[in-house]
Amino acid sequence: MERIRLGIVGVGGIGSAHFNCVGSGKIAGMTLGAVCDIDPERLEYCKGVYPGVPRFSDCGEMFSSGLIDAALVSVPHPHHAEIAERAFAAGLHVIVEKPEDISVSAARRLNEAAKRSGKVFGIMFNQRTDPIFRRAREIVRSGGIGEIKRSVWIITNWYRTQHYYDSGDWRATWSGEGGGVLLNQAPHNLDIWQWICGMPKRITAFCGVGKWHDIEVEDDATIFAEYENGATGVFVTSTGDLPGTNRLEITGSLGSVTVEQGRLIYKKLLTDERVIRTTETRPWFEPEYTTEIFEPKERGEAHAGILRSFADAVLHGSELIAPGYEGLNELAISNAAYLSDWTGKGVEIPFDEELFDEMLSERRRSGRKKSGGKQQTHESYSERWNVRF
Ligand SMILES: NC(=O)c1ccc[n+]([C@@H]2O[C@H](COP(=O)([O-])OP(=O)(O)OC[C@H]3O[C@@H](n4cnc5c(N)ncnc54)[C@H](O)[C@@H]3O)[C@@H](O)[C@H]2O)c1
Repeated sequence: MERIRLGIVGVGGIGSAHFNCVGSGKIAGMTLGAVCDIDPERLEYCKGVYPGVPRFSDCGEMFSSGLIDAALVSVPHPHHAEIAERAFAAGLHVIVEKPEDISVSAARRLNEAAKRSGKVFGIMFNQRTDPIFRRAREIVRSGGIGEIKRSVWIITNWYRTQHYYDSGDWRATWSGEGGGVLLNQAPHNLDIWQWICGMPKRITAFCGVGKWHDIEVEDDATIFAEYENGATGVFVTSTGDLPGTNRLEITGSLGSVTVEQGRLIYKKLLTDERVIRTTETRPWFEPEYTTEIFEPKERGEAHAGILRSFADAVLHGSELIAPGYEGLNELAISNAAYLSDWTGKGVEIPFDEELFDEMLSERRRSGRKKSGGKQQTHESYSERWNVRF
């Protein structure tokens, strides 16, 4: 096989951006095999752009058509796992949009289906391609700041208007979306956070439900994380702040990494603080340290980079930038955050998945049912989709 034939399920906002990118031949090793959407208007749009690409209104028919080698699932998140599992069962490679689904239990089932299939499984964590986050990870994971003590991420530049929330009947409802900012915008950051700092063992969180918008899910959240080694982390996100902030600081025994305004600042102590603490005889200390400032001009390949990495993995067996299996990690943090907010207690990871599923189902059963509002955007990759600092 020289090029994999991709079948896109859900050609809405982000799905149409993937459609336009792959259709224009920008992804080496990947071509458009077919598209699928339950909305006829979306299929009409696809017909207008690439009339030769077969169109389906039922994903099962597309999966068994023999026209595609891989499926990209870009429908609302509560359907990711179910549709991806059907694609694996049909013998296809799969890449899902973030989040992997809305619950750890669904993500776990999907991971098992992926494993059974032996096919390539990717997830669209496009921010993993950003050179700043890659450098931060390299520094932290190689021990460049010693043992992690603390991380603080204020990621409040995910601003959304009421119009955005009203624009799709699935958005910002428990039944249609399964959560708010923690499930829609912040998964990128929750993933990068765990990708750099590892997984916390305990989460305590406070969610601001409909704090800035007329919605029934959270548009504001603060998470306090505790790690195995005693390190702590704070994660603050919101869709209500303007202009908002994107600032990540990770402090360790050997220095710190700060990401802000498109720059990474790495301060490295000449002597580990743990040594200074126990050997220095003065009560205070002016440390000697080196400073590296990394300010890349490019923001990375974002979605196109993830698609390219997926095609390379299928064609050449290379390592994925974002393996689908890892989608479970950030979901474990956001699920634990909800559970903590709902129960008013700290939540250990792994948590009681049955209890979470029960409490979420109750909200999904009794929550708002929206109708009407349908987003009609047809997108291309643009600045809007890049990491904003
Ligand atoms: N990685 C990113 O940067 C990024 C950006 C935006 C959205 N997303 C994710 O992509 C997913 C879709 O978001 P969106 O904003 O494009 O939503 P959207 O509402 O604009 O598009 C979803 C599309 O899926 C279609 N659909 C729904 N159920 C279907 C089914 N069973 N079979 C076929 N088609 C179906 C809808 O008709 C619609 O066209 C979400 O999970 C979201 O979190 C990721």
